[in-house]
Parts: sequence; C-alpha cells; structure tokens
Amino acid sequence: MASDYALRYGLSDAEEAWRLRAEAFARDEVAPLSREADRAGRFPRALVPRMAALGLLRAPVAKAHGGAGAGALANALVSEELGRVDGSVRGFLAVHVGLVTQTVAELGTDEQRRAWLPRLMSGETIGCFALTEPGAGSDAAAVATRAREEGDEVVLDGEKHWITNGGVAGLAIVFATADPAAGRKGVEAYLVPTSTPGFSARPMEGHPLGHRASDHARIVLEGCRVPRAARLGPARGGFRVAMAGLDHGRLGVAAGAVGIQAACLEAATAFARTRRQFGQRVGDFQQVGASLAEMKVSLEASRLLVHHAARTLDRTGGPATAETSAAKLFATEAALRTATQAVRVHGARGYDDALPVERHYRDAVGLTIYEGTSEIQRVILARDLLGRDDGGGSTR
Ligand code: CAA
Repeated sequence: MASDYALRYGLSDAEEAWRLRAEAFARDEVAPLSREADRAGRFPRALVPRMAALGLLRAPVAKAHGGAGAGALANALVSEELGRVDGSVRGFLAVHVGLVTQTVAELGTDEQRRAWLPRLMSGETIGCFALTEPGAGSDAAAVATRAREEGDEVVLDGEKHWITNGGVAGLAIVFATADPAAGRKGVEAYLVPTSTPGFSARPMEGHPLGHRASDHARIVLEGCRVPRAARLGPARGGFRVAMAGLDHGRLGVAAGAVGIQAACLEAATAFARTRRQFGQRVGDFQQVGASLAEMKVSLEASRLLVHHAARTLDRTGGPATAETSAAKLFATEAALRTATQAVRVHGARGYDDALPVERHYRDAVGLTIYEGTSEIQRVILARDLLGRDDGGGSTR
C-alpha cells in the first residue's frame, strides 16, 4: 500500500520506491555514523560504495548515459531523505551527483562521458566542483585561476577554496579564465584528474560551523597541465557550465533543507508531547504550539516548492532556474528558522549533540550560503522577473 507521503504528494510508484530506498539507507546506515563523523570532522567515505550499490549515484542521469533515468523529483526525494538525517552526506551527493556527474552527462563530449560517467556513477571516482576562489564567491565570473594554451595542452594556475569533496575527489571540474579582461566571457571549465601533477588539495584551515563531516578543501593549481580535450563545454563557455551545474546542485540543497525541517519538526513535536513543565505538556503552552504550527507550514511550503521545481524539470526537460532558486531561497531560510525553533523547543536539551537538532541548526546556516547565497537567489529571481534592461520603455 502507498505510504502517507506518496498519497499526499502524488508520487508515482517508482518515485516512492526511490524515496523509501533512501529513507531506509539514511536510517539504517547513515544515522548510526552521523554524530561521530560530525565530532571527528571526517567524511564517512565507506558510505560511497553503498550509495553506488543502491543506485543513488546514478539516479538522475539519463538511461542513454548509463544512468537510472529516475528523474528530478525522485532525485530530490533522495536528497530530502538523506538531508533529514545527515547534511554532510546529503552535501556530498549534491556536489558529486548534481554539480559533477549530471554536468558531465549533459555537457560532456561522448569521449568525456565514456571516460568519467561509469567511474562517477560507481563511486570509484568522487567528483568536486572547483569554482569558488578567495576573490570569487558570489561573483563567480571573477575567477582568477588562469588557463593558458600551450600547443595541445592547457596549463592551469590558481587557487580554489571551500571546495566540497576536494580532498577525496578523483575528478575536479576546474573553472579558470582564458582571458581575465573578458570577465565571464573568458571563463572555461576543465575536467582535471586530481592525480595530475601540479594539482594539490589541503584541508581548509579553521573548524566549520556546520557540515563538519563534509570534506572541504583548498585546492592549489601550479602548472597543472591537461590536454585541450579536457575542456568541458565550448571555449569561453565555462560560465554557462557553472550556472547549469549549479541549477542541479541547488535543487539538491533545497531538498536537503526540506529534510532538515522534517527532522526538526518531528523531533520538536515528540519532545513537546512528552516534556512536562508547570504540570502540563510543553506543547500545550500556546507559544510552543504556535512554533510547531509555523514549522509545519514552512515544511509543507518548502516541500511543494521543491516538488514544483523538480516536476517542472521532469515535464519540460529544463532549465528550471527560477523555480530552483525560489525553492532554494525559501526552503533554506525556512530550514534555518525551523532548526532554531526546534532547538528552542528542546530548551537546554537542544543545545548539545546528544540530539541531532543542534547539528541540523548548524548545518542549516550553511544551506543559506553555499551553492549561491539567499541574496544571489533573490538576484536571479529579480532578473527573471525584470528581464534584461534594453535601455527603453520607461514608465515615467
Ligand atoms: N543555465 C545556463 N546558463 C545560464 C544560467 C543557467 N542557470 N544562468 C545564467 N546563464 C547564462 C546567461 O544566459 C548568460 O549567457 P550569455 O552570456 O550568453 O548572455 C550568462 O550565463 C551570464 O548570465 P548573467 O548575466 O545572469 O551573469 P552574471 O555575471 O550577472 O551573474 C549570478 C549571475 C547569478 C550572480 C552568478 O554569478 C551566480 O550564480 N553567482 C553565485 C555563484 C555560486 O553559486 N557560487 C557557489 C559555488 S559552489 C559551492 O558553493 C561550493 C561547493 O563546493 C559546491
């Protein structure tokens, strides 16, 4: 019989099967490791072959490219279920599958797909997306890493930071400029094996607030040579590659934010039902009850926005940039609000890592920042509404 989730949100049998598979994996195999991985600040790499065996690394990739062809909604459901349990493991997936595997599948040449997709989808090779630099965060077009052609080769020099999966990756999509004066029209993308001489990854300095079990690296490229055929997408077309990749990654982040909200609401409700103060359940105090009600509405609205973006992708084949930005903006801000409320409902019990709400709260902050801050999502949405300024049409 179909689950309550499948009935309420109109999932197909196949979509529900993906959701249930991810839910069981998250509950049985991820949850037991999460607190220790967070404390140790270590990515639980042993989970990667398990995710591959369950098909999670190939879920959204088209069957024509050896993927499962499960669709965007099924893939979002996988991220929601993993996000409900562990933001770091869910973050691995958004980068490895969303930013890297899907980008290679959609924009790679036949040769690049043949070389990399089987390894990425089997988990033999982990992918990272080397866009962000110390001087190029929200302004992605400002990358200073240089790409210089020398015969049939391209030499990469520069520095990347905050690269999720950077220290465990075997493949990096490196964004570099072939012409710094050309701004975003000079950016190119390259598929770089991390074993290439001149490529090195080191852990980020400092201890992150959240996503502590994610691997975050600083990548240095010093005379790193790749064949010209390693370019992903057209010459000077790297900025579009970055934006198209981020469309996929951001939907995974938004879905993860739904998972955090579901976990926080469930935990806060259970606590408010059993914890008694002043002779009654704390949930029966109107202020706590109102908090739970707000958390519930935020969760439902976020989930529907994620489903809407995913269904739009499944129906039209994409892009669904505005729908994805709306989902990321709303769901991640809601996750931060809801996780804060969940900690407060728990009182002091929400303030240490005996319960996961504290970890969800820390992770939720990151969701509003990485793969495009909330401010950047608003920029994308405003531009979608206004269109380009053609210099005319004043209403005054
Ligand atoms: N898909 C395909 N192409 C797209 C696109 C999309 N979603 N969005 C824009 N483009 C194209 C446009 O059509 C345009 O093409 P033309 O040049 O042919 O006209 C071009 O890209 C430039 O578009 P914009 O004019 O909108 O570009 P902009 O320079 O004004 O910047 C921006 C837009 C939205 C602010 C962009 O810079 C942006 O998204 N910044 C945030 C970057 C970001 O998310 N960084 C996080 C990196 S990854 C990470 O977090 C860590 C990790 O480890 C994963």
